[in-house]
Amino acid sequence: MTETPAGAVFGAAPTVGVPELADWLRRFAALVAAAKDELTALDAAIGDADHGVNLDRGLQAVVARLPELGAPGATPASLLKGVALTLISTVGGASGPLYGTFFLRLAGSLGDAPAVGPGELAAGLRAGLDGMAERGRTQLDDKTMVDALAPAIAALAAGLPAAWDEVLARSVAAGAAGRDRVTPLVARKGRASYLGERSAGHQDPGATSAVLLLEALRDALAPAGAPG
Ligand SMILES: Nc1ncnc2c1ncn2[C@@H]1O[C@H](COP(=O)(O)OP(=O)(O)OP(=O)(O)O)[C@@H](O)[C@H]1O
Ligand SMILES: [Mg+2]
Repeated sequence: MTETPAGAVFGAAPTVGVPELADWLRRFAALVAAAKDELTALDAAIGDADHGVNLDRGLQAVVARLPELGAPGATPASLLKGVALTLISTVGGASGPLYGTFFLRLAGSLGDAPAVGPGELAAGLRAGLDGMAERGRTQLDDKTMVDALAPAIAALAAGLPAAWDEVLARSVAAGAAGRDRVTPLVARKGRASYLGERSAGHQDPGATSAVLLLEALRDALAPAGAPG
């Protein structure tokens, strides 16, 4: 059991510091690399067939920089800021600045802390989501990454202080449900929106990659012995 600064007790909740965040990014990069063709195929149907390729390129650049970004003296915020700037400069398109803003706001929310507990992480993810939605002028049901991330991050905050691995699993399930919930909808943002009614019935590429981000978080933060 771990005592958080707020005094709440979490079953086997980890402290999230630079190594855990670096692991999260490495796992996200691996999941995106494995799903690159699927993401690109989804984007071919309602966009310009570059989501998998763009995101993979950006995350490979992030992975290459992790030793430097996580070097002694790094804080969670400095690491995540470096991740954000790398994504913004290498991914391009709509998703680069949007994921970049997500990580930048998450970094800002964590301050100078050397490590944070689950409650602070959940609040930071919420700040990241709000930043992404502001940057993209995105609302729920626009059929974007936000539709997967919003319910997942809400589930994370609402689930605490249950067992951490269970909360992370519930968060992934909520994100996947959000991704699937908007598949029948008409896209209202980005290139997919140019298709109007023809975008309905296609799974959103960004919501799909956002679920990979959540799966990577679960796998990085699940206590030792849990799947992942
Ligand atoms: N305003 C927005 N807010 C949040 N997410 C968005 C927004 N616009 C697009 N997206 C997400 O970005 C994904 C497409 O990302 P991609 O890497 O292919 O960039 P892109 O080709 O420039 O995107 P697009 O052509 O959709 O603007 C979409 O599937 C959607 O989830
Ligand atoms: Mg695209």
